[in-house]
Amino acid sequence: MKAIISIKGVNKTYASGHVALKTVNLDIREREIFALLGPNGAGKTTLISIICGIVNPSGGEILVDGMDIARDYRAVRALIGLVPQELSTDMFETVWATVSFSRGLFGKPSNPAYVEKVLRDLSLWDKKDSRIMTLSGGMKRRLLIAKALAHEPRILFLDEPTAGVDVELRKDMWQIVRGLRDSGVTVILTTHYIEEAEEMADRIGVITKGELILVQDKVELMRKLGKKQLTLELQKPLDALPPSLSRYQLELRPGGSTLVFTYDTQAERTGITALLSDMREAGIGFKDLATSQSSLEDIFVDLVRQSQ
Ligand SMILES: Nc1ncnc2c1ncn2[C@@H]1O[C@H](COP(=O)(O)OP(=O)(O)OP(=O)(O)O)[C@@H](O)[C@H]1O
Ligand SMILES: [Mg+2]
Repeated sequence: MKAIISIKGVNKTYASGHVALKTVNLDIREREIFALLGPNGAGKTTLISIICGIVNPSGGEILVDGMDIARDYRAVRALIGLVPQELSTDMFETVWATVSFSRGLFGKPSNPAYVEKVLRDLSLWDKKDSRIMTLSGGMKRRLLIAKALAHEPRILFLDEPTAGVDVELRKDMWQIVRGLRDSGVTVILTTHYIEEAEEMADRIGVITKGELILVQDKVELMRKLGKKQLTLELQKPLDALPPSLSRYQLELRPGGSTLVFTYDTQAERTGITALLSDMREAGIGFKDLATSQSSLEDIFVDLVRQSQ
């Protein structure tokens, strides 16, 4: 598939001396939904802002549809719609005026039928004459999407589209984004939530501390992320694991009374039944057990370790 955005060796050090992005190399494919997944301060907004020409990179090169973002700024910007992380828009304007004006900013001739379609798609049609300050938070977020779509961009950036949005609306938002992709728009979104990346993305890039540590097809990554742990409190402490249990991914915690089994929730068999039966055979009893999902934090730590 053709790369619509090509990021080569991009890095960013802010004036404060803070290194927000180390060397980033990434190709975004046309018509994909790409999720940038990472914790607070990872550099997601910085990367998006650089591609959109809002922040200058300290080095590297970015091509959008074959054009250099610095040299062909206007042409590139016209291809891009951006829904920023922070809600910011003129509170006194009406919904209709804001979206129409946004279209004009990019030199597109007025097209009421298109603006109407966008507002209807985002369930904002009945609010078209309302002033923005009278909208709820979720409506404002949808308005920002409408605004970003006003000039018919081929690429849409959504920076934390569902932050502070309730479950119902989050699902609507996912639906909207899928619809956009199906209509030919390439979508790049940022998120903290694994579930969101899982639900939405075709590919996922994991970013942490300014480094893109992994880029992978969703299905493959979810297999890696879908790990759970089973913690067993043993009746009697063990000095060491018996050889009969060596085929399992087991960790005996210091003290010897806690055994942790890591298994893959996406695998056909988790191996729990076999493990428990082998433990019984080895005469190892347990008094309690609990399962836990690896946290986002664990996963990042794990991925960082693997990528080194
Ligand atoms: N204008 C700036 N000047 C100095 N440092 C900045 C500036 N903007 C961002 N940073 C720093 O760069 C790092 C990356 O910030 P960025 O906003 O890109 O992270 P993010 O991944 O979008 O985080 P979040 O999930 O919280 O939105 C942070 O440590 C942040 O403090
Ligand atoms: Mg951000």
